[in-house]
Amino acid sequence: MAEKSKILIIGGTGYIGKFIVEASAKSGHPTFALVRESTLSDPAKAKLIDGFKSSGVTLIHGDLNDQESLVEAIKQVDVVISTVGSLQILDQTKIIAAIKEAGNIKRFFPSEFGNDVDRVHAVEPAKSTFGLKAQIRRAIEAEGIPYTYVSSNYFAGYFLPTLGQPGLSAPPRDKVIIPGDGNPKAVFNEEHDIGTFTIKAVDDPRTLNKILYIRPPKNTYSYNELVSLWEKKIGKTLGRTYVPEDEVLKQIQESPIPFNIIFGINHSVFVKGDHTNFEIEPSFGVEASELYPDVKYTTVEEYLDQFV
Ligand SMILES: NC(=O)c1ccc[n+]([C@@H]2O[C@H](COP(=O)([O-])OP(=O)(O)OC[C@H]3O[C@@H](n4cnc5c(N)ncnc54)[C@H](OP(=O)(O)O)[C@@H]3O)[C@@H](O)[C@H]2O)c1
Repeated sequence: MAEKSKILIIGGTGYIGKFIVEASAKSGHPTFALVRESTLSDPAKAKLIDGFKSSGVTLIHGDLNDQESLVEAIKQVDVVISTVGSLQILDQTKIIAAIKEAGNIKRFFPSEFGNDVDRVHAVEPAKSTFGLKAQIRRAIEAEGIPYTYVSSNYFAGYFLPTLGQPGLSAPPRDKVIIPGDGNPKAVFNEEHDIGTFTIKAVDDPRTLNKILYIRPPKNTYSYNELVSLWEKKIGKTLGRTYVPEDEVLKQIQESPIPFNIIFGINHSVFVKGDHTNFEIEPSFGVEASELYPDVKYTTVEEYLDQFV
């Protein structure tokens, strides 16, 4: 069997990054995490860093703003996965430059992990936010760097615990506000599964220069279907208020950062249906649960049980 690629994760101490580091180490890939010195001594991150060490992850000191540290780290591995946050998307041009300089990278996964940014129908400011990731895609392609873009759609943990209702800390039990008519289908994936599918793709020729969509049928629900599922679980009917699109657009325009971006992403997903309103064509994409039917992912139905 071919040896498993050595993987460097940049942004491994972040929200989704830690699941990717964990999945990489668990699956036996030699795993490296680029971590800032200041983070290594941050008490809030101590448990996470200890967990990395006990899973055999090699920590490399470095920073996006220190090109030498990036090149040094990249030279030690075969594959780079970036999970930097939404404020550092354009800083990934520094990773691209370092990959070019190092010259040894077989695959780069830029920080995506959401909508397919080339197939969104978003309004500002979400449109520009998606546009930054598209800009990074074009830079990778222009440099001829082999890539996989992971379109993981919604992180379950960001949406399901409140069913997307602002200000709640548990799913609603009385009433629910739904943008649009609640019919377009969206996709919600548990974070460990996003890690597992991402790592499965690393050495897979079928995902080379492709978009890996994580769109399992059992995690694909319209807002209406999701509310009905929750109602069945708690044995209660919720009052549903539908917000017409022109009101959703007004709310986006009138909200401050970051709420305007969050509402804008919700508009793209739930009003325009951007998670599912296109077919995955073999020329540009593959679907993760089809490629890896052996992965027992957490379904939305199972995920919601913890809140009943
Ligand atoms: N689909 C969804 O529902 C959803 C939701 C949220 C985010 N996302 C996407 O997921 C991706 C990751 O976002 P996230 O929220 O997981 O990120 P995050 O929690 O903000 O983590 C960012 C990571 O980048 C690291 N970092 C920041 N500045 C750095 C620098 N100068 N040098 C090296 N590392 C640096 C941070 O390190 P420290 O620990 O040192 O700060 C951290 O590990 C983004 O593309 C975002 O758009 C998707």
